[in-house]
Amino acid sequence: MTDTQQNHPRLRVQGLTKSYGAFQALKGVELELIPGEIMALLGENGAGKSSLVKVLAGLVTPDEGVVEVDGKQVSLSSVADSQAAGIAVVHQEFSSIPTLTVAENLTLGQPRTPFVWWPPHLNRSAKEILARVGLGHIHPRTLVQQLSVAEQQLLEIARVLAIDARIVIFDEPTAALADDDIERVLTAILGLAEEGRSIIYVTHRLPEVFRIGNRATIMRNGKSLPTEDMDDLTPDRVIAMMLGRELGEMFPPRRPGASIDGESRLEGVELTSPLLREPLSLRVREGEILGIAGQLGSGASEVIQLLAGTLPATSGQVLVDGVAVATGKRSAGITAGIAYCSADRKSDGIFADKSICENLTSPWLSEVSTASWIKRRSEWKEAAATAEEFAIDSTRLPTLVGRLSGGNQQKVALGKWLGINPKVLLVEEPTRGVDVGARAEIYGRIRALADTGTAIVMVSSDTSEILGLSDTIATFYRGRMTALRPHDQWTESDLMLEVMHSELEVSA
Ligand SMILES: Nc1ncnc2c1ncn2[C@@H]1O[C@H](COP(=O)(O)OP(=O)(O)OP(=O)(O)O)[C@@H](O)[C@H]1O
Ligand SMILES: [Mg+2]
Repeated sequence: MTDTQQNHPRLRVQGLTKSYGAFQALKGVELELIPGEIMALLGENGAGKSSLVKVLAGLVTPDEGVVEVDGKQVSLSSVADSQAAGIAVVHQEFSSIPTLTVAENLTLGQPRTPFVWWPPHLNRSAKEILARVGLGHIHPRTLVQQLSVAEQQLLEIARVLAIDARIVIFDEPTAALADDDIERVLTAILGLAEEGRSIIYVTHRLPEVFRIGNRATIMRNGKSLPTEDMDDLTPDRVIAMMLGRELGEMFPPRRPGASIDGESRLEGVELTSPLLREPLSLRVREGEILGIAGQLGSGASEVIQLLAGTLPATSGQVLVDGVAVATGKRSAGITAGIAYCSADRKSDGIFADKSICENLTSPWLSEVSTASWIKRRSEWKEAAATAEEFAIDSTRLPTLVGRLSGGNQQKVALGKWLGINPKVLLVEEPTRGVDVGARAEIYGRIRALADTGTAIVMVSSDTSEILGLSDTIATFYRGRMTALRPHDQWTESDLMLEVMHSELEVSA
């Protein structure tokens, strides 16, 4: 590196603006990144983080502003331009192509490697890269559509490791991951920084920021605040800078006795399935929130799907208010009043090409009157009410959900089910990608729904949310329920021990 290069930051962004129609998403963003640093990019849902990332990725053309890499102005009018400037990006929404193999996806965007024919030595290098993100067990010829959400996210990260970039940008890479996968990703990122690469790391998970970040830039309403050293920041200060206010209590108070007094609302009786190692029975009372913790492959997600009717049970029963619901039929679940908000927002949580209004009303579309004008009116009213509760700007109800920021899409995915006062709500990862302020709103909303008598089952990889929100907590490990106790009989370390269960027994 020459002396003149050393005097320049690795990346400099000046006066960046971008409007989508009348909406100004970026309002003069300023940023400087130095070699070998990990910079956290933080801000509320819709603050403009992904918009900035997309400009740097060459996906979005800014209205104004200058981007320099190593002191030279670069034009980023395509992904190829961005890659030529030494920038690689892991986007918030997956960009792997589901119908191609893992190996083929690893070489996408690298024009020099043929990916139609796949020679053995490339197979080997693919395997090495996969192993770095904990996907060593996946064969490079597996189709991406056969991978779980977490595995797809890890593959996205493997893709940028395969590119030799000076600037690597991660847009919420860990939002869909459980603890041990997160660890792997953070280690891989620290490794990239040690090699002298500069990292921009977008996340809503503050503990990660304080662990790996050197500096932080906070965005608010499309503007960037001056970059700060992590050493000068505390979590409370970061939150206050993001929200422009102090955050109150994160978790709403529990109604004393809710989990013991209520009638049984939802029951699973001796449910069996190839994915469960023993028959499962559980009971959730009116007004009770049952939190289920378990790693990928623990069976936690399968249990939710058995209850929802998206997975068939080999035998056993699901009862709502004592009445049997046909298993393996989602439509039967809906009729019985079971709402289900899955972890896979993109494939079945939302309709990206439909408006916020249509999304917020979709679960009961068929239930509402067939006269289309009546339907329109009642839809709009319901949607406006839900939007208001979730701090979704009601003037944006006609906006396509695909155009919303990631966290706001999550609010819509959950909001559409909360609007109908279901008897049962089954929800996976309710706050994935949601900022701290909206997170508190969602917890409040889930608790309020429970207080109307809804039985709630929540699967989450976030131990703080399992502990803070649940009345009763169950853990799963390798297809079995390993513990079920009231919330006040759990500590964070108990929960982590149970979730990793016999892995510890074996090593002990
Ligand atoms: N193609 C588009 N058309 C219209 N509005 C858009 C478009 N893309 C982004 N926006 C708007 O720009 C704003 C900033 O969105 P962006 O995705 O950058 O937010 P973010 O900070 O990444 O939020 P999150 O934490 O939820 O991911 C949002 O209000 C979003 O709705
Ligand atoms: Mg985003």
